[in-house]
Amino acid sequence: MEKIVSLAKRRGFVYPSSEIYGGFSGFWDFGPLGVELKNNLKSIWWEEFVQSHDEIFGLDSSIIMNPKIWEASGHTGSGFTDPLRECKNCHHRFRSDDLKTLACPDCGGQLTEEKKFNILVKTYIGPVEDKSALAYLRGETAQAIFVNFNNIIDSFHPQIPFGIAQIGKAFRNEITPGNFFFRSREFEQMELEYFIEPIEDEKMFKYWRSYCLGFLHGLGLNPDNLRFYDHPKEKLSHYSKGTTDIEYHFPFGWSELWGIARRGNYDLSKHTKYSGKKLIYKNPTTNQEIVPYVIEPSVGVDRLILAILIDAFFEEEKRVVLRLSPKLAPFKVAVFPLVSNKEELVEKARIVYQDLRKNLMVAWDDRGNIGKRYFAQDEIGTPWCVTIDYDTLKDDTVTIRDRDTTKQIREKVSSLNSYFQKKLED
Ligand code: GAP
Repeated sequence: MEKIVSLAKRRGFVYPSSEIYGGFSGFWDFGPLGVELKNNLKSIWWEEFVQSHDEIFGLDSSIIMNPKIWEASGHTGSGFTDPLRECKNCHHRFRSDDLKTLACPDCGGQLTEEKKFNILVKTYIGPVEDKSALAYLRGETAQAIFVNFNNIIDSFHPQIPFGIAQIGKAFRNEITPGNFFFRSREFEQMELEYFIEPIEDEKMFKYWRSYCLGFLHGLGLNPDNLRFYDHPKEKLSHYSKGTTDIEYHFPFGWSELWGIARRGNYDLSKHTKYSGKKLIYKNPTTNQEIVPYVIEPSVGVDRLILAILIDAFFEEEKRVVLRLSPKLAPFKVAVFPLVSNKEELVEKARIVYQDLRKNLMVAWDDRGNIGKRYFAQDEIGTPWCVTIDYDTLKDDTVTIRDRDTTKQIREKVSSLNSYFQKKLED
């Protein structure tokens, strides 16, 4: 884990937030490579969970919403709390479900009784900071989907089953953020609410469990590092009739990566009750009205990025390599002139670089020797390096070096674009 943290910082994937002020616990900044990786992941998810389905609709809601939403959903009550204990001696605070002893892990002092600590992040809207101005930063993106249920039905008249999906920030005042950005106080979620006939609950739950696992395999995650974990009844969230987590084998142990929950009609019913607006689906042929059930696959973008980085990280005898799937890699190609002090080579390399950049994220490097440049690209997961050498000036071919095999081939400059497009499609 320390190696991943150090690489992420050094190579511009992830920085501690507010670092020059000593950081801010539970908050992280994604650097130039991190933001590319994240954007690639989000667009692959969007393509596979929204754009490739006729019956799934996208949404981008506001982060701060009417606070009644969080009362209705149960988040202001006991449903969205962490069990907290404080040391009477050093006053350090712990989630009691993380504790392995009854004494303070830091000083051995006595701990207080367990208290329920609500993790919604509060703010005030308007000029007066009183109870009437209290609002919340959303604790999950899901609630915005439920409260837009009627809007989507009215605009698109979908037939059941149909889904609404959203990618966006969520905020939780976690008692113990940690394990790098595994548990943060500000993070992004990719959530789908898939509305179904109640009778389809079991079938659709199984369908989405395997769909999500298949998605992770498609990202190139090692199947041996992934497993299903079915929540026992006593551990279910307040809204859930059944939840399976896809767990990832992180360096600190198997932990939740992706939750797939059967939320029943809990949310739609609650919002109907609290808002006074009926949230129902009317079957167009039978005119029968139902409150649909919902299956919810919900994954954290940041947490998945962490799993992706860990899974891709390999230390070999001579190099560190991030074996990222090419579709996730921040740069697809790096272009180098063999040496930086031969004008014709640099000029030709610049032309190749500018041409490839029209379609792909391409890195440029002309520092140090070729070996060092290869290793620098391996470390950030760039799948292919293109070198312009003296032969290029004679026959217009370049060397393409593959990150994973380190094998090199020669290819015509004129076919580079189609070569990489084909590789990426493969
Ligand atoms: N709408 C359902 C929901 O929010 P959750 O299990 O609380 O369920 C879903 O969160 C996913 O969001 C988790 O599986 C995890 O990937 C991510 N997540 C939750 N809390 C997180 C945190 N504090 N930091 C980073 N990711 C988090």
